[in-house]
Amino acid sequence: MGKSSKDKRDLYYRKAKEEGWRARSAFKLLQLNKQFDLFKDVKRVVDLCAAPGSWSQVLSREIFKDGKNDDAKIVAVDLQPMSPIDNVIELQADITHPKTLEKIMEIFDGEKADFVCSDGAPDVTGLHDLDEYIQAQLILSALQLATCILKEGGSFVAKIFRGRDIDLLYSQLGYLFDKVICAKPRSSRASSLEAFIVCIGYKPRPGWIPSLKPELSTEEFFQDMKIGRSTLNENLVFEDEERKVAPFIACGDLNSIDSDATYTLDESSLKNISLDPVQSPTAPPYKKALELKRKGQLKITK
Ligand SMILES: C[S@@+](CC[C@H](N)C(=O)[O-])C[C@H]1O[C@@H](n2cnc3c(N)ncnc32)[C@H](O)[C@@H]1O
Repeated sequence: MGKSSKDKRDLYYRKAKEEGWRARSAFKLLQLNKQFDLFKDVKRVVDLCAAPGSWSQVLSREIFKDGKNDDAKIVAVDLQPMSPIDNVIELQADITHPKTLEKIMEIFDGEKADFVCSDGAPDVTGLHDLDEYIQAQLILSALQLATCILKEGGSFVAKIFRGRDIDLLYSQLGYLFDKVICAKPRSSRASSLEAFIVCIGYKPRPGWIPSLKPELSTEEFFQDMKIGRSTLNENLVFEDEERKVAPFIACGDLNSIDSDATYTLDESSLKNISLDPVQSPTAPPYKKALELKRKGQLKITK
């Protein structure tokens, strides 16, 4: 799809380029913050799965607004390298690896975080069950890390897909946070199962010592906290009256752009010109193919 036709089909994509955001996802975090006031008084922030960096841009702009809060620290973690962002410390690392938690703790000088967010999405394989499983594991890894680094009362926001095991996740979260809400920002397409869990008021499990151990699976980790699948299922057979359903909130102004609608650029006060992306990918997977093509060494096998 050409750049300008994507601009029309997806006005958030276009608006992101106009406003200098590296990805349209920026609007999701902005709309979530508008609804839940997530950045109030935060000093230590972890942005998990952060590349190309639009959430980190939002965090940097909002938290360091008006030159205030200059002792705040934002750490952005991703498998991919990221181009620098003002006030953001980048860490190229795997969020599922225990060493990543240690590195973040070092950057924070042992202080805990007020806010952890994750917009993680693994590379899709095309095998639906496998993709769903990896996505669910990534959310659990983000939650594991959050439980180890968040201070009491802190908040956690993560992208989820409202699939089969979502009740179990809501139940687990209900033990860890005062409030758990499932939020759908208007910039997230209604046609997608994507939503965000907004978890406010972290309550560390009594007597549980936060640590990530390479030998523990995510299931064993939550089992150790007494909120694993088997503990919950023993006590919590999901009868209707026991079922944990997080309240669902749509956020973002109703008059704002509809992410499922197609607009003409003229209609939208935007000029009918195509704009380049704000940040080209730093290490795209197709980079090697382009290099080979330039050297005339690219062989296409059928
Ligand atoms: C949808 S993008 C995030 C977009 C980002 N929030 C933004 O606003 O620019 C998902 C990211 O998850 C990252 N990711 C997937 N698995 C990861 C892992 N195990 N550790 C760290 N990052 C991971 C990918 O590299 C990708 O950059």
